[in-house]
Amino acid sequence: MIGRGIGIAITIAAFALGAAVALWQFGPSVFHPAARSGGQVSVGTALVGGPFTLTAHDGRQVSERDLVGRYTLIYFGFTHCPDVCPSGLQTIAAALDEAGPAGEKVTPWFITVDPERDTAEQLADYVSLFHPRLVGLTGTPEQIKATTKAYKVYAARVDDPSSAGAYTMDHSSIAYLMDKDGRYAAHFSHGTGASEMAARLRTLVK
Ligand code: NI
Repeated sequence: MIGRGIGIAITIAAFALGAAVALWQFGPSVFHPAARSGGQVSVGTALVGGPFTLTAHDGRQVSERDLVGRYTLIYFGFTHCPDVCPSGLQTIAAALDEAGPAGEKVTPWFITVDPERDTAEQLADYVSLFHPRLVGLTGTPEQIKATTKAYKVYAARVDDPSSAGAYTMDHSSIAYLMDKDGRYAAHFSHGTGASEMAARLRTLVK
């Protein structure tokens, strides 16, 4: 019975986490770091980001230190995603092009939440479909878990007989802009249009 109790507790905790992430993502007026901390954005910035080690689609080892010295737009997803990730990445690619010189200063990253299927080779083929500068990143399941945790990204495997490997991934669709110090600067929720994203990038990227 003890084991069952723990299982129920874990299930409840998982639902609470999912709800918190959903609220945070879709209800920025409630959960936005600045709103929650009474305008002290410095407190909120610590909520997103942290140490990670990943492998880029060209085999390079990448860590949080690679964020320093450039703006990075980080999007989490997976290559077998039927529509959310492709539309998110298309929006990012269009926004970067539309933002002009500001867009050129931003390096877009696509971090997989599905390391089992998304090898570096698979990511290399995939990212080239969207933007010439898009970097695909993968890692061990532990490395990916640590990264999604640091970035407050929800990702969970769901059975799906119609997909390769008979599973798909539920995940947050959110893009984070990290500044030149490697710190959180802004986020874009799913549904943000390319022109709106481009306009915000022109303001945020110096
Ligand atoms: Ni997706």
